[in-house]
Amino acid sequence: MRILVTGGAGYIGSICSEELLSAGHQVTVYDNLSEGHRSAVDPRATFILGKPEEDGNILDAVRSASPDAIMHFAANALVGESMTNPGKYFHNNVANGLKLLDAAVQCNVKKFVFSSTCATYGPPEREPMTEDLPQRPINPYGESKLMFEKILQWYGSIHGLDFIAFRYFNAAGASEKYGEHHRTETHLIPNVLKVALGRTDHCEIFGTDYPTPDGTCIRDYIHIEDLAQAHILGLQPGKSGFYNLGNGDGYSVRQVIDACVKVSGKKIPSVEKPRRPGDPPRLVAKADKANRELGWKPKYPKLEDIVATAWAWHRKYPDGYPD
Ligand code: UFG
Repeated sequence: MRILVTGGAGYIGSICSEELLSAGHQVTVYDNLSEGHRSAVDPRATFILGKPEEDGNILDAVRSASPDAIMHFAANALVGESMTNPGKYFHNNVANGLKLLDAAVQCNVKKFVFSSTCATYGPPEREPMTEDLPQRPINPYGESKLMFEKILQWYGSIHGLDFIAFRYFNAAGASEKYGEHHRTETHLIPNVLKVALGRTDHCEIFGTDYPTPDGTCIRDYIHIEDLAQAHILGLQPGKSGFYNLGNGDGYSVRQVIDACVKVSGKKIPSVEKPRRPGDPPRLVAKADKANRELGWKPKYPKLEDIVATAWAWHRKYPDGYPD
């Protein structure tokens, strides 16, 4: 199939493009390189430098790629930043996303695959977290993704656009070639591994008074190649709807640091800091629906195996991408 991948120079989009290409699909990457890296774009893909703020730019890209499906990864995705700059999240994640959806309808694209997030749920009122939980985000990032989910649903029912929205839990790990390099790194695993690499002398733990066994936040870490495989399965005809993507196991911040110590064999000192605004205490998936309906089964169910792939990539590319 011909696939247009927005955000294909970013962490998740780059690895998804790589997997799509390896599975025999044709990929056009559309990315404005605000967060992404040109060298993270697989050389087998066609690259379009996006200017989504310019009138007609997104429509032109969709026209020239003429895709059978769009995978929409391009977004701002930092919970903490969204608490200080909500406008950035609503403009990019909702308004620019809407331009893309309109272009998809205009160009008669058959399928739209959207990167959503467990942040759309907010603190869950019950566990395990299934897709039918009420969605009450507690940060503008989660709200922006929820708004787009709703728009997508209306476009699906009114325009007949087939869509899948994947609600990722915490994407982690790397492929051999592509990994996690944000210009300003806020994510836990890369920050902890920076200490193991000797780039910083300690990592920080945001909040030690949460209602969890060791007082730190619990998340469900899912390997990036497993996320990519779910997207490929989602391209099968007739598949549509909302799907959680996670491993179903929760690990606390302290457990993540311990896993990084074990995998790297290095000492990783940590400093306790106050809570980071917008962080729910515990987010753990139930992803049985993706397993049942799409035949999705993660290859990396264990945190240490996920961390090992991230560690291998960071050791190979200690400065990340050159651009
Ligand atoms: N944390 C630390 N120290 C750090 C970085 C993070 O203690 O240096 C903590 C955070 O406070 C949080 C946990 O580690 O409790 C995980 O934080 P991340 O920033 O790695 O990930 P988030 O859970 O905040 O966010 C990620 C993605 C979002 C996605 C969300 C769903 O960035 O896109 O997972 O939980 F929506």
